[in-house]
Amino acid sequence: MTELHLWLRHEVRTTERRTPVVPADARRLVESGVTMTVEESPQRIFPVEEYEKAGCRVAKAGSWVSAPGAVVVVGLKELPDEPAELRHRHVFFGHAYKGQPGAGALLRRFAAGGGALYDVEYLVDEDGRRLAAFGFWAGYLGAALAVLQHRGRLDAPLVPTVKEELDALLRGDGDFTALVIGALGRSGRGACEAFRVAGVEPTRWDLAETRELDRPALLAHDVMVNAVLATTPIPPFLRDEDLDNPDRKLRTLCDVTCDVGSPLNVLPIYDRTTDWTDPARRLSEQPPLDLIAIDNLPSLLPRESSTDFSAALLPQLLGFGSGGAWTRCLARFEQARAEVGIEEGEFRRD
Ligand SMILES: NC(=O)c1ccc[n+]([C@@H]2O[C@H](COP(=O)([O-])OP(=O)(O)OC[C@H]3O[C@@H](n4cnc5c(N)ncnc54)[C@H](O)[C@@H]3O)[C@@H](O)[C@H]2O)c1
Repeated sequence: MTELHLWLRHEVRTTERRTPVVPADARRLVESGVTMTVEESPQRIFPVEEYEKAGCRVAKAGSWVSAPGAVVVVGLKELPDEPAELRHRHVFFGHAYKGQPGAGALLRRFAAGGGALYDVEYLVDEDGRRLAAFGFWAGYLGAALAVLQHRGRLDAPLVPTVKEELDALLRGDGDFTALVIGALGRSGRGACEAFRVAGVEPTRWDLAETRELDRPALLAHDVMVNAVLATTPIPPFLRDEDLDNPDRKLRTLCDVTCDVGSPLNVLPIYDRTTDWTDPARRLSEQPPLDLIAIDNLPSLLPRESSTDFSAALLPQLLGFGSGGAWTRCLARFEQARAEVGIEEGEFRRD
């Protein structure tokens, strides 16, 4: 078996402070015989020196592009626009299998270079359960921001924080009603927990409660967090006409799912996400409705979310390439490539 060489890349998005592998887990990988290269990265929450102390090699930010073909590049979010041909195996969230904007272009880059995407969103056990996910903290942050916005206490721009400081801002008493949809999932559980810290016991809906959607009941809540993981198109939870409904109590909406632009979107009432600079956008004036739809929520608690994610990813990385989970992950990539009509490429791992 060839020796595994993991290459932890710098994230191009300047607000992305998280990492999929924290220094303590990098040490475990090195001790297990994995060669680990870590790119310098000014914004990563853990300084590169901590990785160096853990036995990792250090490389310049973005230097993975000229790394040997056998290297497995590990990251979280989008790749830079160059190179046009991707020749490595990449582990990250590609957001390329649900018809999202740019999905076809990314898959074509892989096909052009003969590389492969091991999308962490599709790294699942035999029952289809995700093995490593940021969901809990996404939901926690989504609900927390919704609470602060609803109470008129959301300061912009958002900056990364730690849980103790966030919780101190959140604490309060049951001054409004809240609904979490997708409440049984990771994000949903995180959202419910943040509402609990804020002193609000939310209504919890999951698949059973939305099969026959009670939209008047939905609109009767003050705050709503959408945290579903949609896998097939379903009727939307909110439509444009609901925004004009004078009986609507709903004032603050946080879409953790952020499937905007995808055919699976359950909230087709907005066309672009919000961000750390302008976290909330008014969607409707009469009655008012504010939207929060930030697609990198866990980055606001980079240390906590990285540590949890890395702990879940570590056992998978130790067995990279072998076993059912990685096989399923690669098969999903090949299926996506076939769906967009791309011929199978040759893998180059020289
Ligand atoms: N905004 C962000 O920063 C961010 C970060 C991480 C994850 N996410 C997204 O959040 C979503 C949820 O992720 P997760 O890890 O919590 O997933 P999950 O699989 O743990 O939970 C999803 C839940 O949604 C429920 N569900 C699915 N369809 C539903 C429906 N029609 N009605 C009601 N409930 C339904 C499922 O039963 C499940 O309980 C995903 O789309 C994910 O990509 C966003």
